[in-house]
Amino acid sequence: MPHDEHRTVDFFTEDALPAPRVAPADAEHIAAQHLGIDARAEALGSQQDANFLLRDENGSAAAVLKIANPAFGTVEIEAQDAAADLVSSAHPELRIATVLRCPDGSPRRAAVDTESGPAVARLLRHLPGGTLSGPRHLSPGTVAAMGTIAGKVSTALRDFRHPGLDRVLQWDPRHADRVVARLARHIGEPDRRAAVHAATAEAWAHVERLAEALPSQAVHLDLTDDNLIRRPDSRPPLPDGVIDFGDVTTSWAVGELAVSISSMLHHDGVEPHHVLPAVRAFHAVRPLSPEEAEALWPLVVLRAACLVVSGRHQTAVDGDNAYAEAALDREWRIFEQAVQLPLAVMTRLVGDAIGLADEPARADSPPLPLLRDLPADDIAVVDLSTDADAMDDGAWSDAGAEARLAAAALADGAAAVATRYARARLSQAPALAGVSPATVPTGIDLWLGRDAVVQAPAAGKVLAAAPGRVEMTYGPQVLELSFPRSIAPVVGAGATVRASADLVRLPSGTSVRVALRAAGSPDVPPLVRPEYASGWLALTADPAPLLGLPIVGRAARADLLDRRDAVFATVQGHYYADPPRIERGWRHHLLSTDGRAYLDIVNNVTPLGHSHPRVEQAVSRQLRRLNTNSRFHYASVVEFTERLAALLPEPLDTVFLVNSGSEAVDLGLRLAIGASGNDDVVALREAYHGWTYASDAVSTSLQDNPNALATRPSWVHTVDSPNSYRGRHRGSDAVRYGPEAVAVIDELAAAGRPAGAFIGETFYGNAGGVALPDGYLAQVYAAVRRHGGLAVADEVQVGYGRLGHWFWGFEQQGVVPDIVCVAKAMGNGHPLGAVITSRSVAERYREQGYFFSSTGGSPVSSTVGLTVLDALRDEDLQGNAVRVGGHLKRRMEDLAHRYDIIGAVHGSGLYLGLELVRDRVTLEPATEETAELCDRMLDLGVIVQPTGDHLNILKIKPPLCIDTAAADFFTAMLDLALTQLGHGRTR
Ligand SMILES: Cc1ncc(COP(=O)(O)O)c(C=O)c1O
Repeated sequence: MPHDEHRTVDFFTEDALPAPRVAPADAEHIAAQHLGIDARAEALGSQQDANFLLRDENGSAAAVLKIANPAFGTVEIEAQDAAADLVSSAHPELRIATVLRCPDGSPRRAAVDTESGPAVARLLRHLPGGTLSGPRHLSPGTVAAMGTIAGKVSTALRDFRHPGLDRVLQWDPRHADRVVARLARHIGEPDRRAAVHAATAEAWAHVERLAEALPSQAVHLDLTDDNLIRRPDSRPPLPDGVIDFGDVTTSWAVGELAVSISSMLHHDGVEPHHVLPAVRAFHAVRPLSPEEAEALWPLVVLRAACLVVSGRHQTAVDGDNAYAEAALDREWRIFEQAVQLPLAVMTRLVGDAIGLADEPARADSPPLPLLRDLPADDIAVVDLSTDADAMDDGAWSDAGAEARLAAAALADGAAAVATRYARARLSQAPALAGVSPATVPTGIDLWLGRDAVVQAPAAGKVLAAAPGRVEMTYGPQVLELSFPRSIAPVVGAGATVRASADLVRLPSGTSVRVALRAAGSPDVPPLVRPEYASGWLALTADPAPLLGLPIVGRAARADLLDRRDAVFATVQGHYYADPPRIERGWRHHLLSTDGRAYLDIVNNVTPLGHSHPRVEQAVSRQLRRLNTNSRFHYASVVEFTERLAALLPEPLDTVFLVNSGSEAVDLGLRLAIGASGNDDVVALREAYHGWTYASDAVSTSLQDNPNALATRPSWVHTVDSPNSYRGRHRGSDAVRYGPEAVAVIDELAAAGRPAGAFIGETFYGNAGGVALPDGYLAQVYAAVRRHGGLAVADEVQVGYGRLGHWFWGFEQQGVVPDIVCVAKAMGNGHPLGAVITSRSVAERYREQGYFFSSTGGSPVSSTVGLTVLDALRDEDLQGNAVRVGGHLKRRMEDLAHRYDIIGAVHGSGLYLGLELVRDRVTLEPATEETAELCDRMLDLGVIVQPTGDHLNILKIKPPLCIDTAAADFFTAMLDLALTQLGHGRTR
């Protein structure tokens, strides 16, 4: 049968399209005979064509041989190649699988015979880098890049016309209803079949209504993870290449984006809200009209339904197509995700993403109050958000917090207690949750302290009435009442009631939920997850006016971040591109205004945990009595300095109190320079010591200041970071760092510039908690002292019990410094720092300078310092660092056996570092992977951040009160995130 050049495919008459059967040897033959290339052919998967990678004699990829399905006519193939050329010339920054050409410019294309009939074979440009296929999670950057490409392809093809576009494909959303109707019988499971039918009918009804307003044009229609090629070595994977123009046709332009989005939904951990960056990115390149935005999610659902039915159909007609078989689960997952939320909810989120303004539904003041004879003044409103004082002292985590607070308000004399609509409830936040909990209320809960009659606030029709439930029309809305099932309403379903008619009589002690939803909208759950809240809330209205209460306004998160950016210098960064708003903390949890408890893995500043009641009470008491400066005579400053001095070995007995680590280091250096009379300072490289002039001068951490090494003042001399894992000397060779640093110190002295001080962290916190090599500080301290200098220990991060086995880092090294700088943990978040030295060193300072700090050692600061020391001791937090830290380290070492990306687990106690590398031999830092992992962990409920010069080490330094359950949660989420991001060994 000759191949008809002008014919185009019609799915509805063609039916099955099994991929042409071509063996690699036949492919090689076709390539050689018809296309002039001698190459080895490797089969590539395809649903309906036969594709081969052709390798030349050196094994390099030379081209892709594509043998089109015999069902496609030549004119269609020409259209595909022309479309590829068009996109390629419109967007040279994209790599496009265009057809290869002969020297005379003609395409390398030929009609060939296959077992399945005559077909068109051609050579296409091979794009290295691999596709985005597979289960790996897609990060927001990848998702956005997919949306951008879809936008670019859409704009490039906007004016493309070609007779080969005139085809009827099963993938064209304009035919989705008919495709599903025709193929759904191939879904074996009746419940799944029914679900696909129902979702298709609903989505199709929406699309049909909008169809007139949807612009049509040429579309690629298959810009999926399988057809977008990753830029080689991009991390996280970013696509810049497009293959497979086989589905090019004319259809609704917005379908391009819907197809792309649907292909994201099967990836590990991806749920519908994760695809919104693609919508934003597409819209930025190719703006969506309001109708297109409205049609988008229904088209995602239709695409998902078509994938499911076509996948089943394909395996039915083409039983041994392994590619199609493997896709079935994936397609079902796409469908499940696409229909997880009502269309109205997703459509609203799409509209929000592209800034379509939409007035929220409002409930006007009703003619009559819902509760007869129960005036608003008698209703107490209970706040369950992060702002509520009632959430203090960990009350949010009590199971019965809401009922207890309501009972307390009723006991206080309120006739009723009402919660707030739309305000996320912290009382619904589980302490450790890998998925955001449903915290946003879509109605109001009322607890009654006396008998009450619920009346119709206006005339309406009763839509439903059953024990525990009444629904009636209320203007364009539906009023929903839910109460205990033991109570029956006094109206019947179907009744028309006048305003003031009794609906239900509720005895004192019962509770009722009041909600308003738009008529015709789907059922709205009482609590919804914050990511989807704006979609759900758009279907509802605040029922507060029905109770005579004021409407709750909703604050936008972005506003606050913009305000911050407007007044902050850019150098004052914040964690995360889209940070949660944290307004509360409790123990090792940080609590967001969305009502999520994040596990806090980074706050070493709060060793006791957040909002420690003992600290709060001590501070409040002291603030009520006195807060002044340490020139006055009061007990707390004396007691605190005595306690600090007692924590240090002889001869360190004299204490200066300041307010921060930077101040402590600055003062420590001044003391050393004053006492030694020498201005030069030797410091460890890769360190951070603070932001004041002197502490900044000795800081060379490249992550904080990329120009650090080039901009040191002349009095600063640096020595190698003694990093036994990735420094110049590794493993047992690390013993060489000590003598080398000694040599630098000796050379300075020989050059007539003996160092007045050596400063360094005593355990390398900034490098991720790497212990210094044994004997390092002993050698360096001895050398600096030999030349009249002093040893300054920066214990700001690692000291104060965090290392578990040692209270101070210098104990691990078996040395005693001359000057110790402390801060962070001392105040549990309150600004507090100290320098402890010997009396003789302190006395020399008297000759050189002056010391007074207005707030250092104030009564409040001293009280905080004392209370922190008491609680550290009483709660055995250093012991906890040994126990939980040891457990956590072992768990992470277990993970290191399973994930090659984990190069090392550093640290001691609860100062740990998980170092991520691309190669365990070269130790190439996995910087971008670490950033992506931190973002993923946030989604999974964990706040963790990178450290080190390459930002490739997770710094694990949680509040010391962390327990084993939280440590296990952290490890489990890390395990999950590493798997989702494709770092597992066997995928
Ligand atoms: C080792 C070290 N020293 C000093 C400082 C400065 O402390 P502060 O931020 O309290 O000024 C820091 C802060 O991160 C630090 O990590």
